[in-house]
Amino acid sequence: MSDAADHDPFEDAFHRAAERHERAWVFVAITLLVTLLAGTMFFVVYDYGVVVRTDGFRADPAAIPAAPAGLVQAGPNAYSVQMVGHLWAWSPSPLHVPQGATVTFHVTSTDVLHGFQIQNTTVNVTAIPGVTGTATYTFSRAGTFNIICNEFCGIEHQAMLGRIIVDPVKP
Ligand code: CUA
Repeated sequence: MSDAADHDPFEDAFHRAAERHERAWVFVAITLLVTLLAGTMFFVVYDYGVVVRTDGFRADPAAIPAAPAGLVQAGPNAYSVQMVGHLWAWSPSPLHVPQGATVTFHVTSTDVLHGFQIQNTTVNVTAIPGVTGTATYTFSRAGTFNIICNEFCGIEHQAMLGRIIVDPVKP
């Protein structure tokens, strides 16, 4: 607020005009922001509903086996395995797999986000506490495959390694 008597009328007129433009642009900017925010919120709620998680995305320790069972045979050449990431290792490791086996990995984490990736394969699953992701792969050649963590998870992230050993099948 200003006292009109103290001001040059030209300057006052200039300021009023400038303020009108400023107000218009501020109005446009706020309208855009509110529209985008409301639109984003609408589509998020439309797609996912209102989701309030109170568990902090932590896994229920009872739901995760202390020692994963290892390779479980599910068919003639089919196997499944529960793969658990924790600070800072993959279990079970090393995991022995017979050559030619089709293995379904059920991947989860007991603490924070990890990234389960088997090098030189198509397997790449985010390990999320309380959530199990799956990926299936057929190990057609024998050899050693490295498991790495590709999601930054703390001070020993780069050392979070595991191994899958595909044992050759005798002809
Ligand atoms: Cu686990 Cu990075």
